[in-house]
Amino acid sequence: MELTVKGRFFAPGGLREGSIRISRGRIEEVGEEVAPGGEVLDFREEGKVILPGLIDMHVHLRDFELSYKEDFRTGTRAAARGGYTVVVDMPNTLPRVNRISVLRKREELGRRRAAVDFGLYFGVPEEKGELRKEVGKRCLGIKVYLPEEGEKETLEETLRFASRERLLVITHAEDPAFFRGKERPPEAEVMGIRRMAELSLRHRFRLHLTHLSSSAGLRELERWKRRVRLSADTCPHYLLLTRRRDPLFKVFPPLRTERDRTALLSGLREGKIEVVTSDHAPHLRAEKRDPDGPGGFPGLETELPLLLTLVRRGELELEGVVKACSEVPASLLGLPAGRIEKGYVGNLTVVDLKKSFKIDPLEFESKAKYSPFQGRRVVGSPVCTIVRGRPVFLDGEVVEGLGGMNVKAYGEAG
Ligand code: NCD
Ligand code: ZN
Repeated sequence: MELTVKGRFFAPGGLREGSIRISRGRIEEVGEEVAPGGEVLDFREEGKVILPGLIDMHVHLRDFELSYKEDFRTGTRAAARGGYTVVVDMPNTLPRVNRISVLRKREELGRRRAAVDFGLYFGVPEEKGELRKEVGKRCLGIKVYLPEEGEKETLEETLRFASRERLLVITHAEDPAFFRGKERPPEAEVMGIRRMAELSLRHRFRLHLTHLSSSAGLRELERWKRRVRLSADTCPHYLLLTRRRDPLFKVFPPLRTERDRTALLSGLREGKIEVVTSDHAPHLRAEKRDPDGPGGFPGLETELPLLLTLVRRGELELEGVVKACSEVPASLLGLPAGRIEKGYVGNLTVVDLKKSFKIDPLEFESKAKYSPFQGRRVVGSPVCTIVRGRPVFLDGEVVEGLGGMNVKAYGEAG
């Protein structure tokens, strides 16, 4: 299996013109004069750029008993269409992925049904016996929601395990003790960050704070960076939207003020926030009409166009997007990906920086056909997604049949 991709590509140091040859899933050769092998895809056209395959560190693929919201197939088809070559799935499923038996089922589902490659996080288990080596063999990290009083012991046991097994601890940092009724003020985020950072200081695990939403949270993050190994991501909705009453816009943590929004955008530009994720959190349209309904919305098919639009407007740089959506996630998760260089996994995302369109959720591959960005005009779109040298999205169509690989099996670069 060989594939040669031609065009302007993103290499360390800037854009270059040439070809990339992928052989048996790995980048074999990169340069101006590469002898083509296998199928050839030619993107030598004004406005098109080949990026290292994008990685989304925070998605909810649902499936199991929540298949009515999304499943492995539709969620990863959304990823392929959105330009994402790897998605990392959250364990708040039904049943939860916090037992080895469920984890094995989850991996099997991915292998059979995923249209792109996937990674898994393990949830904090109810029983200690579930914290076995196998978790580290199959998962990229542990997902932590801050617990109420009674669950603290299990949490600490899990954090010590993460530290021993060198697993990333990815946290939804909102401390429920600081919620006020239905309100979740920035203070809850600040205290959530503080609690987790203190635990990281004690147990020495690598901490990643996901979906950072407030400028106060960003300040707290900066404070801890000197003392613990800490990284963070935010999502397009926190970079582009502010608080609304409409339940369709409900998400946890909540959308905030214009000041928060601009602080996060600057934080991302300055590299204080290293990663962007979608927090793809699909629900039924009907569930989202209810003011007491669930938080979250699908994001995989809007994330990249929204970021490219920020590039177009001069609010982000293309290099920043590549770092935040490919290079840094690959490095935090320990994957031989995120670079167009010999020896790295042959994952590529081709974008058309000039293609302008209006976001229409009815066109989504996701089962969740709604979006807070509905009707928004964007400039920049994925045109081809390549996973291990195989196109999984091309000419507007998702191509299935590759079968997903747990990225734990990627091994090392080289
Ligand atoms: C998430 C979901 O739907 O799974 N929702 C969200 O608003 N981010 C869960 C969560 O992180 O609260
Ligand atoms: Zn969350």
